[in-house]
Amino acid sequence: MARTPAEPAGAQPGSPFEITFDGRRITARPGQSVAAALWAAGILAWRTTRGTGRPRGAFCGIGQCYDCLATINARPNRRACLVPAHPGDAITTQEGHGHDTLAV
Ligand code: FES
Repeated sequence: MARTPAEPAGAQPGSPFEITFDGRRITARPGQSVAAALWAAGILAWRTTRGTGRPRGAFCGIGQCYDCLATINARPNRRACLVPAHPGDAITTQEGHGHDTLAV
């Protein structure tokens, strides 16, 4: 059985909860960022670039590169590596600059 980072630290995390990614149910844990929850579910990309539509996910993991932008609960351009996951969060793939519905 694989060890988790919680074991050596003696952490006792709270109960897991459910969030969704593009309608798919995934599990998150208290204190986990949205990016960490997506990674744990095997999801590595949740945004496409403006110009060429190339896939992007987390790169730096510390809020500096903005590669991890996602639409979280209908708000675009949230840095998934910094936003804590909360029960019931709805994460959706962000296309381009995230404001396509504004026609700008
Ligand atoms: S991964 Fe770089 S800002 Fe989130």
